[in-house]
Amino acid sequence: MPDGAMFSVTHSIQIKGAETDITCAEDQMVLMAMEQQIHVPSPRPVRVGCRRGGCGACRVKVTKGDYTTQKSSRVHVTEEEAAEGYALACRLSPLSDLELEPAFLDPRRPADQDG
Ligand code: FES
Repeated sequence: MPDGAMFSVTHSIQIKGAETDITCAEDQMVLMAMEQQIHVPSPRPVRVGCRRGGCGACRVKVTKGDYTTQKSSRVHVTEEEAAEGYALACRLSPLSDLELEPAFLDPRRPADQDG
């Protein structure tokens, strides 16, 4: 590889509800990788909204793996939730292979209501 050449490490991302795994580079956001690899009309397991950490549509829970997140509002993921693995996919980059599940909170529905 020539001096100064850059490459980024990619990881496999398994999203609950997705038909196939996706790959995501360490310098890429999981939501954007999902959008590039799962094309409409295929169902996207994670909702896409503002892509800037403001709407909470892409809220997920990471159930396995290491990751880093960019700074975002605590409205949709509190510090306590972040410690439990909750994150916004548009602010989430992998540091290893990841497993995650959608965790969108519908503001019209109480959080303690099942079904
Ligand atoms: S798409 Fe709006 S917070 Fe991620």
